[in-house]
Amino acid sequence: MLCRVTLSGLVAASVVTASFDRNLAYSSPSRRHPSLAVPLAHVSKRQTGELFAPAEVNFTHGVASGDPYADSVILWTRLSPTVDSVASDLVPGGVAPIYDDAEGAQPSSKAACVEFKIATDQALTDVVDQGRAYTTSDVDYTVKFEAGGLQPFTTYFYQFNVCDSDKVSPLGRTKTTPAKTQKVDQNIRLAVYSCSNYPEGYFNAYGNPARKDSVDYVLHLGDYIYEYEPDSSLPNRNPSPNRETYSLYDYRARLGSYRTDADLLLSHAQFAWIPVWDDHEVANNAWKNGTENSSGDVFRRRKQAAVRAYYEWMPLRQADMDDSLRVWRSFGFGTLFDLAMLDTRQYDRDLTVLGGIAGLGGNSAEVEKQVDWQNRTVMGFKQEQWFYDQLRESSQRGAAWRVVGNQVVFSRMTLGILGDTPFNRDQWDGYLANRDRVYQCLEEGKINNTVMLSGDSHASWVSDLAWLGKRAYDEDTGKGAFGVELAGTAVTSSSPVGGTPKFAANLLSQWLISQNPELQWQDLFYRGYFEMSIGYEAIKATFFGISDVKKRSDDEVVLAQFLINSGENRLARNPTVGGGRAKSGALKNGRVDIF
Ligand SMILES: *[C@@H]1O[C@H](CO)[C@@H](O)[C@H](O)[C@H]1NC(C)=O
Ligand SMILES: *[C@@H]1O[C@H](CO)[C@@H](O)[C@H](O)[C@H]1NC(C)=O
Ligand SMILES: *[C@@H]1O[C@H](CO)[C@@H](O)[C@H](O)[C@H]1NC(C)=O
Ligand SMILES: *[C@@H]1O[C@H](CO)[C@@H](O)[C@H](O)[C@H]1NC(C)=O
Ligand SMILES: *[C@@H]1O[C@H](CO)[C@@H](O)[C@H](O)[C@H]1NC(C)=O
Repeated sequence: MLCRVTLSGLVAASVVTASFDRNLAYSSPSRRHPSLAVPLAHVSKRQTGELFAPAEVNFTHGVASGDPYADSVILWTRLSPTVDSVASDLVPGGVAPIYDDAEGAQPSSKAACVEFKIATDQALTDVVDQGRAYTTSDVDYTVKFEAGGLQPFTTYFYQFNVCDSDKVSPLGRTKTTPAKTQKVDQNIRLAVYSCSNYPEGYFNAYGNPARKDSVDYVLHLGDYIYEYEPDSSLPNRNPSPNRETYSLYDYRARLGSYRTDADLLLSHAQFAWIPVWDDHEVANNAWKNGTENSSGDVFRRRKQAAVRAYYEWMPLRQADMDDSLRVWRSFGFGTLFDLAMLDTRQYDRDLTVLGGIAGLGGNSAEVEKQVDWQNRTVMGFKQEQWFYDQLRESSQRGAAWRVVGNQVVFSRMTLGILGDTPFNRDQWDGYLANRDRVYQCLEEGKINNTVMLSGDSHASWVSDLAWLGKRAYDEDTGKGAFGVELAGTAVTSSSPVGGTPKFAANLLSQWLISQNPELQWQDLFYRGYFEMSIGYEAIKATFFGISDVKKRSDDEVVLAQFLINSGENRLARNPTVGGGRAKSGALKNGRVDIF
């Protein structure tokens, strides 16, 4: 049983009791593992009882909410010390984290006390839940509350303040999910993101749905941060620390820098997020036993640091962190849809490509040899089983749609120059048996209305889910498909053909759709995001391109729009896919407007 550890005996009599254990950041991600959480007894023993004065802390990194349920949601903020003797120049606009074992820095003996309240109104008068807790350097001064007692599919407003003071955070807004059996009386709208590389540009894509107030929830499919040594060509766009991230200190500082982008702060403050990680939350081309340039103990320590910092900084729940740092989890949105958020990257992925291409260079010959092994998996067999159970249960309970948040592109992708050999084995193309098992599950379970969402690739790929080589598929009508894949481009990370002018990039897209029958729209040129509007009869997906990520702006272009009609398991042809028009890239049987 968890005991309630408080500072009340130590601090001045005027301070009302707060606790450490209401702050979920202390179990980031799991209290049962010494390297992955903070033993509260140690924290409270070390505290002198001294609290930061309101003027000594600031809500520099804004507020955030996430992992909405029908009756609760996670609320996040950070009490950034404004006076900090260590490395105060590390985070633009704020103060860096100051404690990390590896760096030998001493934890601070001072605590900050914070309160939250959540209400149905913007003036915060109709308060539904409130609470207070401490935060310390042990958790990088982050704060995570679970706000409870909420009504389903309802908008709430929340705010934090330094205890017993009028120093308040920005106001946040959030929304619970519909109750599982609820019929949803309006479309549910999502914004879907991946690959936000801070040095490469401004996060305009995050800000636009907030400015338009166009969605209900935000999904992030990973690469929320990048671990690389900063190398921005833009002024003030080099995040801390000034090196590739390895330590807990590094990952905290990196997350702290990213969380100063004004558009990211806006999105976090306005929408409940449902995030998962991809590789760069740890390091490039991660798999279960390493990354591009870390393995063994270095990798294990690096991953622990990265995961711990992620859980401190992100508004997500702990799924079952005793299970190999499991992040995969699911959400129900009434009878409208179920959302499975997968981890095809860090949980239990078999060997990936760590250099070289198509069997040449790096370890790619070794990977090439393994791609069709039956015992190979991108998710780990435990997660696979869970995923197939989720799909079946969701279909059996009669949820209208199954939406799958996933990292790497699912559909086959070939350049057509070596037969139909795929060119990126770091995607599902490197895990063929696992992909076959997904199709088999959809077929045997007669599971309809599955929409796969993907990121990671820095380009847009909209495909019918076609089981190529196994089941007949008609690329013109979509007959034979099992669903749809919507793979979105990056928030800022550069295109695989970065720097290529639009007309040339569009010619390459034209080549790609000619070589890949299931690929119906492809674009390499634009950075951006997509929105989904999910109704019982149909899903509409709208892809937005950001005109210029090198400056902060709300300019965006509607690149293409797609419809998925319930029961059809393919992109609607109306009369051709995407209505026959796109603003960039290449559209099968359609035209692309040049201007
Ligand atoms: C304090 O936080 C606010 C956001 O709540 C931010 O705009 C401001 O720049 C921060 N001030 C400092 C000194 O970090
Ligand atoms: C990690 O690998 C990348 C790509 O090969 C390289 O640029 C970087 O310098 C490496 N970092 C370290 C610390 O070895
Ligand atoms: C995982 O890494 C360890 C240490 O680097 C190594 O001994 C082991 O063989 C690796 N396992 C696999 C499956 O590569
Ligand atoms: C996986 O399957 C391949 C090919 O059948 C086999 O060579 C390999 O030893 C198997 N690996 C494990 C860990 O069973
Ligand atoms: C899926 O769709 C097919 C064809 O429209 C239909 O025959 C089948 O009953 C549907 N399955 C479920 C579980 O709704």
